[in-house]
Amino acid sequence: MNSSIPSFSNDCATIYHGECVDILRSRIIPDHSVDLIFADPPYNIGKQFGSFKDEWPSDVAYAEWCYTWLSLCLNKLKPTGSIYVMTSTQAMPYLDIWLRTRCTVLSRIVWHYDSSGMQARKYYGSMYEPILFCVNDPKNYTFNADDIEVEARTGAVRKLIDYRKPVPAPYKTTKIPGNAWYFPRVRYRMPEYENHPSQKPESLLKRIIRASSNPGDVVLDPFAGAFTTSAVAQSLGRRSISIEQNHDYFKIGLRRLNIADEYNGEAITSLDKSYVRKNSNGVHGGAVASTQPELFND
Ligand SMILES: C[S@@+](CC[C@H](N)C(=O)[O-])C[C@H]1O[C@@H](n2cnc3c(N)ncnc32)[C@H](O)[C@@H]1O
Repeated sequence: MNSSIPSFSNDCATIYHGECVDILRSRIIPDHSVDLIFADPPYNIGKQFGSFKDEWPSDVAYAEWCYTWLSLCLNKLKPTGSIYVMTSTQAMPYLDIWLRTRCTVLSRIVWHYDSSGMQARKYYGSMYEPILFCVNDPKNYTFNADDIEVEARTGAVRKLIDYRKPVPAPYKTTKIPGNAWYFPRVRYRMPEYENHPSQKPESLLKRIIRASSNPGDVVLDPFAGAFTTSAVAQSLGRRSISIEQNHDYFKIGLRRLNIADEYNGEAITSLDKSYVRKNSNGVHGGAVASTQPELFND
């Protein structure tokens, strides 16, 4: 089966076009060879990924499917490896309970964001997505705390002095982030935007890859989507392996990673993101109309 899986590579990234359970089972990726996995599967919320509808007959059926690929992913991890797993808020308890008997869940991260639109009228709209950070060996894993420090906001105007020190000194102005992360979602006008319904921000992946891998390490993404993981891994000097089953999204990967400019004889063109800017009266001015007008007001 290996020879039948379309794959492409550059110096540091390999991308596979196909179904991830098949590919993970096929052993083309050796067991215990991966340092970091970022898994962002369909969430079972009815989203459309091309012709594939993200919908399972029940919560349990979805969880069972997740256990299949999660178990294959865990086999790919090195003993020192880490895995970050995303899913919907409602499905995460199934994965958390399953994972905590097979590896160590070190952090339950909340990625929260703003939305200009209405989320819900009769309950509190969903403004976050959960991420589990798990390791194989809690005594031996990569965590580059110094590489992900953020500004420590004290709220004070003047620098606070730590008088507990033998010689009083200003408090450190940076800190390691906690488990509630704010990163804006990818908007149409952002340079990183790709034509994908659930593209994750590069800033989110930068934090994960910097913290949990070193230059030269191997990062695996079984649900590549717009290939954010491999694009960020490439920019940070990591190697990557990504899998995506959708033809159009796979073409995004070929372009975003500078691997090819055609696929099966089809030219791969870059995204045309021309848009109309509204003036203060809400009147359109400027150039060409966009294909995604609903995103103008973000
Ligand atoms: C939530 S999106 C991933 C988004 C990605 N993290 C990004 O930043 O663009 C999930 C992706 O998994 C793909 N997918 C769904 N089921 C798959 C499967 N069984 N094997 C491989 N890819 C799959 C979908 O086509 C979709 O692009």
